[in-house]
Amino acid sequence: MRRYLVAGNWKMNGTLASAQELARAVAEGVPDESSQVDVLICPAFPHLAGVKEAVGNARVRVGAQNAYHEKPGAYTGEVALEMLVDLGIDAVILGHSERRHVLKETDELINRKVRAALEQKLQVVLCVGELLSEREASQTEAVLDRQMEGGLNGVDASQMNQIVVAYEPVWAIGTGHTATPDQAQAAHAHLRNWLSSRYNPAVAEGMQILYGGSVKPDNAAELLAQPDVDGALVGGASLKPELFQPIIQAAVDAAQ
Ligand code: 13P
Repeated sequence: MRRYLVAGNWKMNGTLASAQELARAVAEGVPDESSQVDVLICPAFPHLAGVKEAVGNARVRVGAQNAYHEKPGAYTGEVALEMLVDLGIDAVILGHSERRHVLKETDELINRKVRAALEQKLQVVLCVGELLSEREASQTEAVLDRQMEGGLNGVDASQMNQIVVAYEPVWAIGTGHTATPDQAQAAHAHLRNWLSSRYNPAVAEGMQILYGGSVKPDNAAELLAQPDVDGALVGGASLKPELFQPIIQAAVDAAQ
C-alpha cells in the first residue's frame, strides 16, 4: 500500500520567527513512522535553514518551493539546487501553478528543473493542474497530459521513486472552491493511468499523487478517502497548526 504524504506549502509568508514557531508545532504533532503518513513543510527560501534547525530530529521533511536548474554561478537572484542540498533540504516543489501563471514558467523550464533536482537526489513534488477555463472547455485531461509529458521529458522509470505528483486545479487554489472528491479522484485516476502507459504499472501503483487546492480540516477526510488520493498539498491551512494538524490526522485515519 502507498504511504500518505501531507505537505505544507507556506508560499511567500511569515517571518523567520513565525516560520520556526510553526515548524516546531508541526514537529511536535508529527505522527510516528508506523502511521504510514509522512509530513513535509516548505517554507520560503530565507527561512529554510532556520526551519530545518527548528525541526531538529523530528520526522518532518523540509522542502523548498522552487530552485534554479543551473549549477551555482552568475544567475543573480536565483537559488541553486546544490544550495538546498547543502542545507540538508529533502525536497523541492516544481511547476506550482503560481510559478506557471504568475512567473510564466514553461513546461520546458520546469523539466530542466525536474531533471537537475533528480540529479541532486532531491525529492520532487511536481505540480500539475488545469485552469477553470480549461476545465469548462473539457480540456482537463489534455492539460494534465501535456504538463506530465513536458515536466517528465527525459525522466526514466528508475528515477520515478523520487517524484511525487500533486494535482492542483488552479481554480481551487486559495479560492475555497475545493474539487469534489469525485473530481479529484477522476483526475488522479487519469494521472495514474498516464503513468502506467508512459512508464509501467509498477511506477503508477507506487506513485504518491497528492491533491491540492483549498484543503481544509473539514474536507480532508473525504478527499483522502479516494483510492487514488495519497495525500495533500496544503497552502493556507498549513500556516495554522490548528488547521494543519487535523489534516495530518485525517491522513493517519485514512491510512488505518
Ligand atoms: P490553498 O490550500 O491555499 O488553496 O493552496 C493550495 C496550494 O497552492 C498548495 O500548493
